[in-house]
Amino acid sequence: MQPIPTLEWTGNALRLLDQRLLPGREEYVCCGDVESLADAIRNLAVRGAPAIGIAAAYGCVLAALTTPEGGDFGKIFLEKVALLESTRPTAVNLFHCTGVQRRIFEGVGDRDELIRALLRSAHDMVEKDLAASMSMGKHGAGLLPGNCTVLTHCNAGGLATAGLGTALAVVYEAWDAGKLVKVFADETRPLFQGSRLTAWELEKAGIPVSVLPDSAAASLLASGSVDAVVVGSDRIAANGDVANKVGTYPLALAARAHDVPFYVVAPLSTFDMETESGKDIVIEFRGRGEMACLGGRKLVPDGVDAWNPAFDVTPSDLVDAIICEKGVIRYPNEDSVREFTGMVDEFGGQ
Ligand code: MRU
Repeated sequence: MQPIPTLEWTGNALRLLDQRLLPGREEYVCCGDVESLADAIRNLAVRGAPAIGIAAAYGCVLAALTTPEGGDFGKIFLEKVALLESTRPTAVNLFHCTGVQRRIFEGVGDRDELIRALLRSAHDMVEKDLAASMSMGKHGAGLLPGNCTVLTHCNAGGLATAGLGTALAVVYEAWDAGKLVKVFADETRPLFQGSRLTAWELEKAGIPVSVLPDSAAASLLASGSVDAVVVGSDRIAANGDVANKVGTYPLALAARAHDVPFYVVAPLSTFDMETESGKDIVIEFRGRGEMACLGGRKLVPDGVDAWNPAFDVTPSDLVDAIICEKGVIRYPNEDSVREFTGMVDEFGGQ
């Protein structure tokens, strides 16, 4: 599986595969300043928790590049970083990546040296993301039975990361290992990341995929044709509760009702050990326009409001395992998540 060119540093700008246009058109948008990149993140030209984080890390490079040297450099730089951080509240990877860049800023006084250090750090995140994807793919595929069919939600593939994915990294690995027969992809209303993006990625990779309306997922699970549900995440709280694209929680409920294992695949940068439980996760609400109109056609009468949360929280007791680059947390809860993260470097372990 070749990484998808989701984002690429050109030398003075960040080039993004414009995900709003897929699958109809493969076009790129080039962001040469923080304002245009913040716009691209907010409007989902680039989306998916790891990809948002890495894009923002390159955004910090743009913040330094586009701020003239002088007395106000630090103030303006930090305002630009804050603009990036204001784009989307739920995916913790965004804050994890800008946090790394903020710490570099605090340690480096010279502007040119800072630009080089921020750029090295962003490139390093891309490499780590690709390595994490491969590792999650292997850990996750190990949990799947032979000849298996999986159901996924939203897009947790190469498009949502630096190029390989989280949930779809498991799919790619299982496919390469000859264990996978087919994928079902929820269409994922209201923005169709499943039918537009996941189906596009899997079709490109030659993996059999069918899309279904979100509302058909419970019936599909009841039919016995799915061996596992595999999804990504935008933020995992310290007790193992999982925020992911809205529609994930009902999927977990239906999976439990029909005895189908429910797996969450996410890198360590998606864990938020400072957030105790899912109740404390800030859920992004998006505009009525995303629901009210499709392809120029009105779907909601004028004057009718819309309740449009972009994410929901699946309680940890509905999750059979969280798969990350360092291994598998089975039956996640406060103790198992703390014990696991306590053992890895990123969280102060060995
Ligand atoms: O609103 P989006 O498209 O950014 O939401 C993306 C998701 O919910 C993904 O499932 C999640 O980020 C995991 S991606 C590896």
